[in-house]
Amino acid sequence: MNSGKIFRLGVLGSGQGSNFAAIADAVAAGKIAAEVAVVLSDVENAGILEHARTRNLPARFIAPGKFRTKLDEDAERAYVTALQEAKVDLIVLAGFMRVLKGDFLRAFEGRIVNVHPSLLPSFPGLDAWKQALDHGVKVTGCTVHLVDAGVDSGAIIGQQTVPVLDHDTLDALHARIHAAEHELYPKCVASIARGEIAVQGRRVVWKAA
Ligand code: GAR
Repeated sequence: MNSGKIFRLGVLGSGQGSNFAAIADAVAAGKIAAEVAVVLSDVENAGILEHARTRNLPARFIAPGKFRTKLDEDAERAYVTALQEAKVDLIVLAGFMRVLKGDFLRAFEGRIVNVHPSLLPSFPGLDAWKQALDHGVKVTGCTVHLVDAGVDSGAIIGQQTVPVLDHDTLDALHARIHAAEHELYPKCVASIARGEIAVQGRRVVWKAA
């Protein structure tokens, strides 16, 4: 992953794109040795596409097809083709709210990362900050992990903790987790682009300098 050529990121998101903005800003500031090759969204008016366009980065809406929680076969093929044509080295999921399946995972095996708003394996799935608040945990956080065939179940690359305060609201806790994601995700992507991490089964380790 560190062969002298510029490392290329393909970013997928469905929402406001604040994690993408943090990553794009880190790239622009030289903190991530990579370039954003393409940004794709399954939501036509998603903020993430706007963030990309204002930064003059290639951005495209690709319709997800007939399902609600995954891409249909044609859409999956269109995403894979767009990412292959952009010659991406790493796929960065930044709030992409569809589960990726078979052919997509096979096309980019071991090269897809995601950020999730909890300390996995606690609270996978939707509204993880609400799950944390409802459960009454005192500490939650965010996780950057490799994507496998399960839901938020891949090997963990990095985690950052966030306290849950006594009188927290959903919005306040969510905002605190989001802020932690904006620190953690660019750092993890930077390490991957520098070729610093090694995957040993379920364990991801930082290679010795
Ligand atoms: C982030 O909090 C991310 O962890 C979450 O969506 C949000 C996207 O925010 N992703 C998931 O829950 C995926 N399971 P953003 O669009 O502002 O980056």
